[in-house]
Amino acid sequence: MANLRAANRPKEIVDAADAYDALAPRYENLLSDNPVIAHSARVSLELVSRAMADAEFLLEIGSGIGRETLELAARGKRIVACDPSQESLRLLQDRAARQGLNNRIETRAIPASGLRELVDEFGAHAFDGSFSSFALSYEPSLGTVPEDVWTLLRPGAPFFCSIFNRLCFAELATGAPFLVPRRGFGRLVGKVSLSIDQLAVRARAYTTREVLDAFRRRFTLAGVWGMPAIVPPHYLHRLLTASGGLRTAWEGLDRRLNSRWPFSLLGSHTGWLFVSRLQID
Ligand SMILES: C[S@@+](CC[C@H](N)C(=O)[O-])C[C@H]1O[C@@H](n2cnc3c(N)ncnc32)[C@H](O)[C@@H]1O
Repeated sequence: MANLRAANRPKEIVDAADAYDALAPRYENLLSDNPVIAHSARVSLELVSRAMADAEFLLEIGSGIGRETLELAARGKRIVACDPSQESLRLLQDRAARQGLNNRIETRAIPASGLRELVDEFGAHAFDGSFSSFALSYEPSLGTVPEDVWTLLRPGAPFFCSIFNRLCFAELATGAPFLVPRRGFGRLVGKVSLSIDQLAVRARAYTTREVLDAFRRRFTLAGVWGMPAIVPPHYLHRLLTASGGLRTAWEGLDRRLNSRWPFSLLGSHTGWLFVSRLQID
């Protein structure tokens, strides 16, 4: 299969910001070319929209070209969108201007590990909600992220993030660790190189325990979703395409199962909804 050969081909490993700078002009093509990415993106937008429904001033971490920021700004939210990829942010600003949304969106070229800078600029507990879709795994560790997000959020505010998961049911069920060892086995040991177009970047895969331990001091858990839960990982998207007319049913079943244990904890990414604690225990 051509996409298995492509997934197994070694690629040059670069910084995530450089890889996304190069990909930015074609980022939207991923959604039209790959049905698994398109499905995950739709599910993510639904979950983020629901989680941020009551929040007005938002912080997005790892916004890319603004797939979700632009949608939420169009619904009346004000957003500070952060990403280390300057080219992605330039495109986000262009798109915001074309849609007449630039008065609702500000961008900052910082990674998740640089969020502390925003406390000096916006003040502590300034944001009503925050989200980070498919981005935090590019940090070498979750490190200071929970503390910094907590400091930026008002007490009781939601934080939704999707993080690359260590155990993926669909990957194991399709035999991916043997078909694409670089991806499948890498995930199981927690360090993986992810293809970003013609390049590759290092990323971390987290266990449930690691994520909960990182966030528990500052946040309570309010929901967990597999993203996707039973649809195969995006580099095996031809399996979904080959299912023909069953694809819609497969995606529908994925949505029904994605919040149910054990599927909620066995997706390719896990969507975590946290709520900022009022004070330290
Ligand atoms: C898969 S894209 C997701 C973009 C967007 N959230 C979405 O869902 O369409 C990952 C994004 O994370 C950004 N990124 C890379 N390293 C990061 C880091 N250390 N902190 C925050 N974002 C990072 C990339 O530049 C890229 O825009």
